Amino acid sequence: MPDETKPVSSDDAVDRRKFFAKLGLGSLTIAAAGTAAFAYQFLEPNVLYEPSPVVNAGKPDRYPLDSVTLDVNSGIYIIHSQEGYFSLSAVCTHLGCLTAWKPELNLIACPCHGSKFERDGKKIEGPAPRPLPWKRIWLNDDGDLLVDRSTDVPPLQRDSFVRV
Ligand code: FES
Repeated sequence: MPDETKPVSSDDAVDRRKFFAKLGLGSLTIAAAGTAAFAYQFLEPNVLYEPSPVVNAGKPDRYPLDSVTLDVNSGIYIIHSQEGYFSLSAVCTHLGCLTAWKPELNLIACPCHGSKFERDGKKIEGPAPRPLPWKRIWLNDDGDLLVDRSTDVPPLQRDSFVRV
């Protein structure tokens, strides 16, 4: 049992003082590190990096005549028709589900609420309020088909097709 009547020696007092000094210094270091982390986060640009809306769909010969090809990753169809190549958005105009090409029915169908579209995007039936929009398509210098998902073009217009 410690003797409480014994006076505290000056060595003990110095050790205690050093301990509290180190404790204070440690607390300040942690607070400074936290402040620096918040300052870095504050100064960093708050930018949302989105993928480019332009999709490289590859060489036209990948798409046989009369084919409808869904690119699941970019949400577009590449259609090779008698008039040329054109592109449709594969995103349903009802609530945004990804549609699917049904070759046995010769139509594009939405699995969510049953909207159906022709291969040129026209609505056949279902709750979708609009047809599937046509997207701008062109050939680049390397002969690849490019599709700009952010740009709608008028359907069935001469400039909306790519002819190779
Ligand atoms: S999301 Fe396609 S029919 Fe509802």
